[in-house]
Amino acid sequence: MPKHLISTSQFNESKDLEPIFINADMMASPWKKTDPLYALRGRTVGLLFLENSTRTKASFQVAAQKLGCHTFNFDQTTSSLSKGESVEDTAKILSQYSDALVVRLRDHNLLEKICSSSSSPVINAGSNEHPTQAITDLYTIKKERGKIHGTNILIMGDLKYSRSVFSLINLLKLYKNIRIHLCAPVGFELPRQYLYDNIIYVENEPFNKVLPKVDVVYVTRPQNELHTEFDLMMTDFFFTEKDLALLRNDAIIMHPLPRNSEIAPAIDSDPRAAYFRQAKNGLYIRMAILQEIMKA
Ligand code: NCD
Repeated sequence: MPKHLISTSQFNESKDLEPIFINADMMASPWKKTDPLYALRGRTVGLLFLENSTRTKASFQVAAQKLGCHTFNFDQTTSSLSKGESVEDTAKILSQYSDALVVRLRDHNLLEKICSSSSSPVINAGSNEHPTQAITDLYTIKKERGKIHGTNILIMGDLKYSRSVFSLINLLKLYKNIRIHLCAPVGFELPRQYLYDNIIYVENEPFNKVLPKVDVVYVTRPQNELHTEFDLMMTDFFFTEKDLALLRNDAIIMHPLPRNSEIAPAIDSDPRAAYFRQAKNGLYIRMAILQEIMKA
């Protein structure tokens, strides 16, 4: 893996992801759950989150601790950002105190600048891309369904603003025979830059026709904090118990989480609901990524 992990475009072939998956499998194996891993004993991982997060931040923190690292959390409200210090300077300083810096901030260009002035490897924990989420998502598909090549996936909801979707599609394009069904409210369609030649896209096919065909349903929440365009049409793009009945028994339902109302809690107990297992996989993937990035 290169020095920083900031973009899905750093992966050129599907086999580039294999070492991460193999390492994540090792991290998830039962004996690792009880024995602390001290592969990176004494190193320090900084968490610089300028946007709210539950799963990504907690899983990076726990991943680092399980590998024997110390972690420190940047607290935006009590930091010198309030004295006018730039995010770039803040990151540069924190990188001097850490062996890896995990950064969440929306502005991808700024993240790239931070990488060039950072003394330690930087990992993107969510900009307008979300590489570690996308790797977690592919790992989940592999673990649940045995393979990623040939996946027929329905991606639904707010496709215009969902960085998890952008990064997922960027990585799916490295695999063969991918078919993506897109279902989004008018005005929330996938930006055209994510339409790739080697993926077959199907748009606007009726839900009841799509559901029996797909291997994976990937649901996203309305990203209401990013725009003021909330449209009541969005409720037509919720995944309901009625939809569950149309899904094949070997299909899975994924969601990067957090969810709002787009998947009813009644669906959680169905074995096809994979989103909590997906969130757990994020821990193993982040352990694998921290190991790769700090092994030098
Ligand atoms: C996603 C995010 O922050 O982009 N969550 C996550 O990291 N698991 C998805 C979202 O917020 O909808």
